Amino acid sequence: MRFPVLRLQDLTKHYGDVRAVENLNLEVYEGECFGFLGPNGAGKTTTIGMILGLLWPTAGTVEVLGQRVTPAHLAPLRQVGALVGAPGFYPYLSGRENLRLLARLYPEVDDARVDEVLEQVGLAGAARRKVKGYSTGMKQRLGLAAALLHRPRLLVLDEPTNGLDPVGMVEVRDLLRRLTRQGITVFLSSHLLHEVEQVCDRVAILHRGRIVAQGPVDALLAERRDLEEVFMRAVQASALA
Ligand SMILES: Nc1ncnc2c1ncn2[C@@H]1O[C@H](COP(=O)(O)OP(=O)(O)OP(=O)(O)O)[C@@H](O)[C@H]1O
Ligand SMILES: [Mg+2]
Repeated sequence: MRFPVLRLQDLTKHYGDVRAVENLNLEVYEGECFGFLGPNGAGKTTTIGMILGLLWPTAGTVEVLGQRVTPAHLAPLRQVGALVGAPGFYPYLSGRENLRLLARLYPEVDDARVDEVLEQVGLAGAARRKVKGYSTGMKQRLGLAAALLHRPRLLVLDEPTNGLDPVGMVEVRDLLRRLTRQGITVFLSSHLLHEVEQVCDRVAILHRGRIVAQGPVDALLAERRDLEEVFMRAVQASALA
């Protein structure tokens, strides 16, 4: 049995009467890209908020590399890089200058590492340009570079292609494929079934806070045309249950 990098057990979050996340159980293993799929309001961002220790669960646990994460115990997140929403950068500084500023947060991250991640995300050529001139896709890749700076073992991404045009989407998708080939574990939330189908090994489909289907993409697709059909059937089945 492979060791889970991320493990959610009976994870639950209620906001008053709103059951945003209900009894979530899943494990993400080293080196895989795990797709966390669901429509608007399914509970993706709430789950990621608990994974990143930004929210207290109502019940259940988050473990990163076997260690419990809560807002009061963030140490395991040193092994995690995250990109949630559009990243904020200083527009009048270059991509490299922005990353060098962030690198000050980590004693082990030097200028050579900054250039290495810029190369990794395909921004080496644009590193000296001011961020205000970057396309949205480039800014998103710079956000990924920032998330990679401290060599995390797990990347947690909440809708990383949101707001990107098709070119930007392809750029980010190619990058995610390259990162997983390099052995980085990725937890990727998205409502874009097609995107997830192309980059992820396994997926969980979330609907109204509950997982309605989970498994390897190949297995889920075996009897269906595409993930859209898997999703629609799972949602229909859960509505009948
Ligand atoms: N702070 C909050 N207070 C009350 N309800 C909330 C809060 N945050 C989220 N919710 C509700 O919890 C549910 C899950 O929301 P969440 O943002 O986690 O979904 P999501 O899957 O990320 O959706 P989206 O695709 O729109 O980003 C929704 O019904 C939402 O309205
Ligand atoms: Mg969200």
